[in-house]
Amino acid sequence: MTSKVRVGIVGVGDFGRRHAAIAAALPEVELVAVADRDEARAGRVAAELGTAPAASVEDLLARHDVDAVVVATPQRCHLSDVRAALAAGAAVLVEKPVVTASSEADELRHLAASTGGLVVPAHVSRFLPAVAQLRQRVAVDPVVAVRAVRAVPVERLDLHGGEHPALVAMVHDLDLIRSVVPAELADVSSVQSWTDPSRPHPQVVMAHLRFADGSLASVDNHWTLPHARQYIDARLEVVTRRWTAHLRVPGGALRIVEENGDLLPDTELEATVAGLPVGALATQLRHFAQCVAEGRRSDVVDLEDGLWSVEVAARIAAQQPPR
Ligand SMILES: NC(=O)c1ccc[n+]([C@@H]2O[C@H](COP(=O)([O-])OP(=O)(O)OC[C@H]3O[C@@H](n4cnc5c(N)ncnc54)[C@H](O)[C@@H]3O)[C@@H](O)[C@H]2O)c1
Repeated sequence: MTSKVRVGIVGVGDFGRRHAAIAAALPEVELVAVADRDEARAGRVAAELGTAPAASVEDLLARHDVDAVVVATPQRCHLSDVRAALAAGAAVLVEKPVVTASSEADELRHLAASTGGLVVPAHVSRFLPAVAQLRQRVAVDPVVAVRAVRAVPVERLDLHGGEHPALVAMVHDLDLIRSVVPAELADVSSVQSWTDPSRPHPQVVMAHLRFADGSLASVDNHWTLPHARQYIDARLEVVTRRWTAHLRVPGGALRIVEENGDLLPDTELEATVAGLPVGALATQLRHFAQCVAEGRRSDVVDLEDGLWSVEVAARIAAQQPPR
């Protein structure tokens, strides 16, 4: 393996294109190719990001220079794409839902165990600084109850209405619940209803989960947002005996209600996610290191910016009225 991890992306539609752009921008990753069965799309994205196009996962793996694959094809393709990648000895980051049925889950579990390959589910919410911080807190104060509510624009049914909303959207919330409740699942029940009876699956789904340690979770998904301005509108409430946390996504702000009042942890300036420093302080240093390595000036903030604010501040300070 070279020092950069050589990554290929399979499926460069809406989400895969985003994975590809990030892979192309990260210094620790080399984007070796992007594959899509829509060859024109693969060609377009490859040209845009300065990488090679491929027509399929097999085509991508035939290059023999791929250490890892990001699978961002529609979920019905995930199992076969992961199987192909593992057979070629590549590690896999696979979009959610990892697979679409319990039978596929068993097969994937077996595949990963028999090949010893690395398969990481792309449950990206766990990498939100606020969620990472929340997980650190529940490691100390066990969860009593969780409530997750997610609303999705009704318009997205045209894209995703062919699958049950539990698999398309609720998996995010189920994973968030799992990330804060370590206990075994004891029971799951649900009520479901249609706002659009012409669709094969319900648009309103409310589920209850009961865990072996007595903790409970409730998760509601509504595919009912009347506009498409917002991709999702998700809320999470985590209750412990000492505090209750509220998180809204997007927005990312975490609010902890505890005995002494509300606390708003600052996860934008500095936070650690999976051992990696994130937030503005970390980005600032990475950017500075990049400028040093490339022998260039910063295009974010230059010396004149720093001096301007000092000079304005000095003029304001000089105007201090006598006491
Ligand atoms: N984590 C998240 O928040 C999030 C958000 C959106 C989508 N996703 C997931 O990402 C995956 C892709 O979703 P999307 O919205 O980008 O879909 P999309 O339809 O926009 O893109 C899928 C792409 O895969 C290509 N494709 C289909 N079959 C293929 C095959 N066999 N080989 C190669 N390419 C193939 C299509 O041509 C298309 O370009 C899904 O699993 C979805 O659930 C995750």
